Amino acid sequence: MPTCAERPVILTGDRTTGPLHLGHYVGSLKNRVALQSTHRQFLLLADAQALTDNAHDPAKVSRNILEIATDYLAVGIEPDLTTICLQSHLPALADLTLLYMNFVTVARLERNPTIKDEIQARGFGRDIPAGFLCYPVAQAADITAFKATIVPVGEDQAPLIEQTNEIVRRINRQAGRDVLPEARALIPRVGRLPGIDGKAKMSKSQGNTIPLSAAPDQIRDAVRRMFTDPNHVRASDPGRIEGNVVFTYLDAFDDDPAAVANLKARYIRGGLGDSVVKERLDEVLQAILAPIRARRNLLARDPGHVLDVIRRGTAQARGVTEATLRDVRDALGLFTLHEPGGIVGDTHRMQYAQQ
Ligand code: TRP
Repeated sequence: MPTCAERPVILTGDRTTGPLHLGHYVGSLKNRVALQSTHRQFLLLADAQALTDNAHDPAKVSRNILEIATDYLAVGIEPDLTTICLQSHLPALADLTLLYMNFVTVARLERNPTIKDEIQARGFGRDIPAGFLCYPVAQAADITAFKATIVPVGEDQAPLIEQTNEIVRRINRQAGRDVLPEARALIPRVGRLPGIDGKAKMSKSQGNTIPLSAAPDQIRDAVRRMFTDPNHVRASDPGRIEGNVVFTYLDAFDDDPAAVANLKARYIRGGLGDSVVKERLDEVLQAILAPIRARRNLLARDPGHVLDVIRRGTAQARGVTEATLRDVRDALGLFTLHEPGGIVGDTHRMQYAQQ
């Protein structure tokens, strides 16, 4: 077993735009809980990145910091194993972003497939906030500041890791040595979970998600409204599994695949009503979400504790990210006012303040 310091470094983040839901749970939260005992894991509450397309609603971005941190703890993220930190309070990330901006072209950013899709989806047209166009550079700063080599993200984020590695190679070439490691995306095997309406994209504004904090009757109601096979009108009709959200969710959440296979066979043959399948899914989801909700309720009574976790994690992350900033500046031969061996582990801003 490698010691903590030798463990491979993992960084991942969530934009603080809404509470986490079942899609996050199967897609990444479960993995993060498992990975925290074998890796050095950092979770970034990406409030600065959230602002790049939510500048009109900063209250939402702020409110969801505590929500998401509470979700992390409720699903079993252990602050002793995983460092939870707040992006906007890590000034080295902004410094690295500004530095990396010189190692990437606007044309390259405009060609980034993730950005292209997102610009379209958000209907920015030609009025793209500069912060939004440049968020891949900030994300490269996030990843490299922790010297992360593994970045668990959804498939849609893969081009951002590629862009990060391009920046890493440019910096390393300029420095003449490998000051920064390249990172690889860890993409979950399970595909993206569809919304309960069958749409590929889950979003709170569409009302097609099941949040981790959902109450029992909210879960039941969501399952009842779930998209199935529109041609499966009577129980006796043969039904389709493909695109049938209830079965997609059973595949993702039911830990008895034999029972699910049996239900599928009966559904396809005809003679099995939607309500029976939905009943099973409701049971499965209630069982998964009940303990998460119970922990969430306990945590909600003590928001000071959650804030404290974020504070301690952010202080720890400051040390790590400031050290990388110094490494990169040194490697590039950038001017510094500080003596080598000056105040170590402190932020460079505090060093200025003390001079
Ligand atoms: N862009 C990521 C998302 O939308 C969030 C994020 C911000 C992130 N910084 C990161 C993910 C660093 C991985 C690594 O989900």
